[in-house]
Amino acid sequence: MSEPVIIGDATLYHGDALDILPGLRGVASCVVSDVPYLLTSGGCSRALKGCLSVDEGYSNDGRIIPCDLAFDDFMPLVFAACGEDADAYFMADARNIGNLMAAALRVGFEHHNVLVWDKCSVTPNRWYMKGCEFVAYVFKGRARAINDPSAAQILRCPNPVGVKVHPTQKPVALMAEYIRQSTQPGDVVLDPFMGSGTTGVAAIQAGRKFIGIELGAGFFRDAVARISGARRQGGLGIDAPPKKQAGLFEGDAA
Ligand SMILES: C[S@@+](CC[C@H](N)C(=O)[O-])C[C@H]1O[C@@H](n2cnc3c(N)ncnc32)[C@H](O)[C@@H]1O
Repeated sequence: MSEPVIIGDATLYHGDALDILPGLRGVASCVVSDVPYLLTSGGCSRALKGCLSVDEGYSNDGRIIPCDLAFDDFMPLVFAACGEDADAYFMADARNIGNLMAAALRVGFEHHNVLVWDKCSVTPNRWYMKGCEFVAYVFKGRARAINDPSAAQILRCPNPVGVKVHPTQKPVALMAEYIRQSTQPGDVVLDPFMGSGTTGVAAIQAGRKFIGIELGAGFFRDAVARISGARRQGGLGIDAPPKKQAGLFEGDAA
């Protein structure tokens, strides 16, 4: 296993999650991860790398852009990396969410809910414009209530357009909400596919520990920079809710 980069309470691994996860058994109190999955090329004309670590072409021909990592490849390892009682949030689009949930249930996670991220904007598409993504919200061990049971299934949270360093970068506020609901201060949040480190930024800002893995060298560097920035800025206060639901969360610009 490669030596991790340690930034305060964040431990960041550059490498393949399939190699690194077996060394992380039982460490995670919670998983919040925007996992790699196949994409449909259709509707948008700008270049997009999607969730893949390699630069794939993107055209408007409706073909499926494959992903060389199957949900069943990593799901057993993520389950083993969770402690006795852990919530997990796995994000995907409409095409992939069913298979993703099924893969999670196959390894022993249990179903809590399917959550919706309303992006507050739409992507042009010939098969209905796309304005949301989905989250397979599952658990291992005891089914614990979230910290604020009045929270709604649909979370409106603007996509960080214009300030992205990763093509599928998530808003910090989105990851922060799931972390805040399913963990306590000092708990360990795991993201085995951290991309530019958004989950890590949210975890550190919330006073949680973080373990992240990323295969792409450039994305890993971005994650190190953003999480270092979040640590320098300090936490926003334990369990503080996102400051701005209607605008970009501060961490997105880090
Ligand atoms: C959907 S993106 C995550 C983006 C992230 N949520 C963000 O806000 O930046 C998934 C990431 O998984 C990485 N990835 C793909 N296969 C991987 C593997 N086998 N091990 C670790 N990372 C991998 C990709 O390089 C990509 O950055």
